[in-house]
Amino acid sequence: MKVLLLGVTGNVGSRLLPALIAHNHKVVGFVRSPSKLSAEAKSHLETIVVGSAIDSAAIKAAILNNNCDAVVNAAGVAAMTSFHSTGDFPAIFAAVVKAATDAGRERKTPIRCWLMSGFGILEAPKKPYLFADYLPLFPAHKPNYQLIKSHKADELAWSLYCANQLVPKYDKPQYPAPAGCSVDNLVVQADSPPLWSKKFLKIPLIGGYLNVMSQAQDYFATLENIVDVIAGDLEKGLGSEYVGKRVSVKEKSRIK
Ligand SMILES: NC(=O)c1ccc[n+]([C@@H]2O[C@H](COP(=O)([O-])OP(=O)(O)OC[C@H]3O[C@@H](n4cnc5c(N)ncnc54)[C@H](OP(=O)(O)O)[C@@H]3O)[C@@H](O)[C@H]2O)c1
Repeated sequence: MKVLLLGVTGNVGSRLLPALIAHNHKVVGFVRSPSKLSAEAKSHLETIVVGSAIDSAAIKAAILNNNCDAVVNAAGVAAMTSFHSTGDFPAIFAAVVKAATDAGRERKTPIRCWLMSGFGILEAPKKPYLFADYLPLFPAHKPNYQLIKSHKADELAWSLYCANQLVPKYDKPQYPAPAGCSVDNLVVQADSPPLWSKKFLKIPLIGGYLNVMSQAQDYFATLENIVDVIAGDLEKGLGSEYVGKRVSVKEKSRIK
């Protein structure tokens, strides 16, 4: 696929680039600070588009002018609490969603779109709660999820990667993508975290909180593994089982 990648100078985006290349995608980078791109990253990008990720019209033009079939958004960072400044993240998310939806309408085929999100919007074991209802961190993810949920798959083929902490195995992006880091190290599941235990749930009042607090950190994941989930899934195009889903993982090494 031809993929427009936003956030290619960041922690996640810079690791996504070698993973996308390893899965034979062609990558167009959308960056606001091209001077931060390494020579290696530049050499692997088909095209570099300079712009702001809050500029929906510029993102749409980058998609259409470069014949991209997919968009991956790793631009912007979610603030940890509502006391921190939200920065550009909600505006970036909305701009990418609008750009990809409008571009899909114009070319009459929906864009395949992965966006970075957070663990809090996954379904908790007690319906109808989300994890964010117990641990209200990174609050921007919930309205972002409400926004994207309103888009049907035939207008935007979206998936949200619902990250808990992402831990890089290597200080810098590796070219080629490291062979030992892949989806094979993970259990991947849609909408709720894989292998989530129901422990403590029966304890009155505080059971739900104990359940979440006691296992959330078991879902920390290696960054180089999760970028392989997204890059590999893009090979499936619009037929992916993760279209219209929230996606999370558990490292096989963390299964007790
Ligand atoms: N890392 C984690 O552990 C983790 C965990 C959960 C979720 N996430 C989510 O994953 C995403 C990426 O995180 P990260 O750790 O890679 O963040 P990061 O290293 O801070 O990278 C953020 C990227 O966004 C770009 N950006 C910010 N504002 C922009 C704008 N207006 N226009 C264009 N580009 C813009 C930055 O470009 P510049 O280089 O120009 O600043 C940079 O490339 C975030 O949404 C984050 O909330 C990360």
